[in-house]
Amino acid sequence: MTDILTREDSGVLIITFNRETKKNALTVPMYQRLTELLHQAEEDPAIAVVLFHGSEQVFSAGNDLADFISHPPDGLDAPVWQFLRAVSGFRKPLVAAVCGVAVGIGTTLLLHCDLVLAGSNALFSLPFVNLGLCPEAGSSLLLPRVFGYQRAAEALLLGEPFDAEAALRAGLVNRVLEPAQVLDTALAQARKLACKPLAALMETKRLLKSAEAPALRERIDEEARVFARMLETDTARQAIAGFSNRR
Ligand code: COA
Repeated sequence: MTDILTREDSGVLIITFNRETKKNALTVPMYQRLTELLHQAEEDPAIAVVLFHGSEQVFSAGNDLADFISHPPDGLDAPVWQFLRAVSGFRKPLVAAVCGVAVGIGTTLLLHCDLVLAGSNALFSLPFVNLGLCPEAGSSLLLPRVFGYQRAAEALLLGEPFDAEAALRAGLVNRVLEPAQVLDTALAQARKLACKPLAALMETKRLLKSAEAPALRERIDEEARVFARMLETDTARQAIAGFSNRR
């Protein structure tokens, strides 16, 4: 699988989205590989931290829109929902280095990361409503908690892009850097984490998240059911076809 690359560095598993010709849009095989990697990383005592990144130009354009039609996620065991369960329940620290566009799951994934470093060129968007769909990844629960209700509603109902500075003000990202510095800085932070006692990191992460964990699991499943139903509607199919036919 060349669409997802991996390498290990000082206890950090670096996962690279590598489908740049399609703006790192995520396909079914990519979700399957990502889920497998997260399960392996969780069990591997040599891995303390997982770091997600794309390139200096693009993080991810979200779910592959053609896949939404040809391989819609039907049932709670569809690869995208398995990935979201793996990432939301991941017990070791997750770090993200985000440059360029981060659309849909490219943004909602960040709500499950513990540290997010963004390039000044990062552009986030949650265009679910514009596609006739609803939020996923538990973002209908987590985004209002991170952003406050009005800013979350603005991002999810209007679906307009927001930049790195807005993401910083809202609390979605920890720092904004020059794009060329983002991966190195994220890796330096991940290495710092990897030097700490792993059990202490994992217990601390568990405690930070335990109050909302049951509600989050339920919400991810509820969103998945609604999302799958909405994906079958003519409104969503036409909106998605509109993207494919835009030229
Ligand atoms: N699924 C499938 N292909 C995608 C994609 C997606 N989510 N996003 C981009 N691509 C493909 C384009 O079809 C295009 O492929 P082509 O060259 O074979 O035609 C290529 O990636 C480049 O995309 P393009 O739109 O030309 O790049 P851009 O820089 O003008 O715009 C985006 C980038 C991400 C803003 C734009 O591609 C976009 O809006 N994509 C859809 C995002 C989306 O709605 N995701 C789903 C969220 S639920």
